[in-house]
Amino acid sequence: MKKHLLKMLDLSPDDIYEILNLADQLKYDQLHGIPHRLLEGKTLVTIYEKPSTRTRISFETGMFQLGGLAMYLSGKESQVGRGEPMEDTARTLSRYCDGIMMRTFRQEDLEQLARYATVPVINGMTDFSHPCQVLADLMTIRERFAHLDGIKLAYIGDGDNMCQSLIVGGLKCGMEVTAATPHDYRPKQEILDFAASDPEFVFTLTEDPKEAVRDADVVFTDVWVSMGKEAEAEARRKAFQGFQVDDELLTLASPGCMVQHCLPAHRGEEITDQVLEAHADEIFDEAENRLHVQKAIMCLLLGANNAED
Ligand code: CP
Repeated sequence: MKKHLLKMLDLSPDDIYEILNLADQLKYDQLHGIPHRLLEGKTLVTIYEKPSTRTRISFETGMFQLGGLAMYLSGKESQVGRGEPMEDTARTLSRYCDGIMMRTFRQEDLEQLARYATVPVINGMTDFSHPCQVLADLMTIRERFAHLDGIKLAYIGDGDNMCQSLIVGGLKCGMEVTAATPHDYRPKQEILDFAASDPEFVFTLTEDPKEAVRDADVVFTDVWVSMGKEAEAEARRKAFQGFQVDDELLTLASPGCMVQHCLPAHRGEEITDQVLEAHADEIFDEAENRLHVQKAIMCLLLGANNAED
């Protein structure tokens, strides 16, 4: 693995499976009370420029279970929010801690932090990528189907960080990926170029949710108004009409299809209350797996000799 985890594009299929296999092991250990204090004495600083429930608590709990310490640094209440450059923050925090996790808006800011950090940097979500979430999603899908290759994944909604990360992660694991997004909310060209870069990748981009979910094994969605986009709320709600995951849409999917949502969900917008509750076990397994996947990421990046830069 590379030194940092900044986006799904940075991971090879072998890297992804290494993380998922270790996450499965750590989940087993945790559920069976088997000690796994693999990061005894290590520290992780977690910087948040956006709110979080799952990411914060799963990183902090995970680090505690591994015998280390995770610390919370609010963007607003630290010098980060007062404009201290990423390069100075990176070099300072690298003198104290064994790793840095950051949730921020611009991917460029995270990349700048990583350029100057001498310790591993983990993406806790940017507007471009949400790798920890998608690795947890892949873990959850594999738990259900026992494999990833050939599984048909449909994503319905905004072509944002989740959609982009699912396209990359899904294709790297041999899944057949279809994304349905409104025309003005398509994934970035860099992601579409990646999807077109290998003749073995099976990828479809459409503006028709019905086409996307047809025979899908797994249906994903995400909020229409993500953090930082509140000023666009009205325009977005209008643009996403017809993109709700509801019972009628799911009749087109494979019988017994799985539904995933990274949460938090806005019931009545991107997903109905009925669909969310009918698939709650799968969705909260997905939330739980953030803990196990991130423990694996931290072990691989902070615990071992992480050679590549
Ligand atoms: N899915 C996710 O990243 O959740 P939080 O925003 O609560 O961390």
